[in-house]
Amino acid sequence: MRTTESEKLYRRAVEVMVEGVGSASRGPATFGDYPQYMRRGEGARLYDVDGNEYIDWMLAFGALPLGHAHPKIVEVIGREIANGTHFATALEVEVEVAELLTKLLPHAEKVRFANTGTEAAMACIRLARGLTGRRKIVKFEGHYHGWYDAVLVNTNPQLPAALGHRFDPVRIADSSGLTVESWRDTVVVPWNDLEAFERAMDAHGRDAALVVTEGVMANMGVIPPKPGFLKKVQEIARAQGALFYLDETVTGFRVAAGGCAELYGLKPDIVSYGKALGQGFPVAAITGSKAVMEGFEWGKVLHYGTHNSGRLALYAAKTMLEEMLKDDKAGFRRLADLGQKMAGRIGKILAGNNRHPATVQSVTSMFQIFFTEKESIDSYRDFCSHVDRRKFRDFVRLLHRRGIFMSPSNTLHSLSCVAHTDRDIDLTADAIGDALEELR
Ligand SMILES: Cc1ncc(COP(=O)(O)O)c(C=O)c1O
Repeated sequence: MRTTESEKLYRRAVEVMVEGVGSASRGPATFGDYPQYMRRGEGARLYDVDGNEYIDWMLAFGALPLGHAHPKIVEVIGREIANGTHFATALEVEVEVAELLTKLLPHAEKVRFANTGTEAAMACIRLARGLTGRRKIVKFEGHYHGWYDAVLVNTNPQLPAALGHRFDPVRIADSSGLTVESWRDTVVVPWNDLEAFERAMDAHGRDAALVVTEGVMANMGVIPPKPGFLKKVQEIARAQGALFYLDETVTGFRVAAGGCAELYGLKPDIVSYGKALGQGFPVAAITGSKAVMEGFEWGKVLHYGTHNSGRLALYAAKTMLEEMLKDDKAGFRRLADLGQKMAGRIGKILAGNNRHPATVQSVTSMFQIFFTEKESIDSYRDFCSHVDRRKFRDFVRLLHRRGIFMSPSNTLHSLSCVAHTDRDIDLTADAIGDALEELR
């Protein structure tokens, strides 16, 4: 595979852009010498500047349930862009999307739109503090809620010795430039560890404004919650007067129409969405009961934004929801079927490969491969101790050469879109078999 045009672009890019890319996870830290520069997407395919074709399983980190350039999205956005890009005024389309969301999501009585998952998380945290008058927030190890200071602790894999005792995890800030004060009120707890959570809530629960969790640990690959764990977290948070905040930035409109709240029978106080909601456009949503959401009214708890409720993003969201929900949510069933088929095929290939012990974990349309001697990876601590991330990166680079696009970062995951086909699954399975043969 020739990637000389990408290499040339990268040489230009590093002269004028930090790491040659717009976000660290797209650059050489993840992709090796230089990343492929992508030019075009269609369905489940991506094409780079050298003309190479890839089956895309990264899908803009999950932002594309309909795949690239879906004809309906192209039609609607083409029509609407001719009517203007952004007004920063009240819009008919925002009412329509909010109505769709409140009809679909049992916990959601009111909606507020933002642009990114990070912003939505910031607003949720401020809202919970405003409503409860409490300062502390409880988050889980290995969970990422965006790059906001208060939650940018214990989001990266670390050496196991650095993690501390599970009843008192060492808090590790993941960036320079964070003041200690910015995360002083953040309590960190191991996930999927009910005893540790109960202890932490005994100690801090009465001062906690919220407990925030991902529904699936999706920023350490794919780690599903243990049966009943999230319901217990919800119950204990409520009993202490803290809001139960489910961050569905990854899982919303992805693992099921109603996200993890539907999949695991939860009724969170507040939920944020992003990624899949905008079908590639930047839009996030904050949803909750009237009582909770009205905390934002008249700026009691302030949330502003020039680009909130961007009209093109909301037309994309409306179109995505209509397409995915039609025929009794057939789009979401297709996403899950394809994801499970792909994960099942990978599982069989890995089971027949003795040279590289590995396992695949999945939740409906999300899956990730772990090179590990363990049968399953159940926690952040497992991930830090038992997963060979370097081998995964080398493996994914071999897949790239075979026209399969996944993120080389083992902390991310692969995803299906409705445009994937059984043939894509066959081609991907063949490439995975070949790559495992070549892997050292
Ligand atoms: C669970 C979760 N929350 C929040 C975010 C932040 O979203 P954004 O990148 O749109 O700011 C992410 C991004 O990966 C995420 O995975």
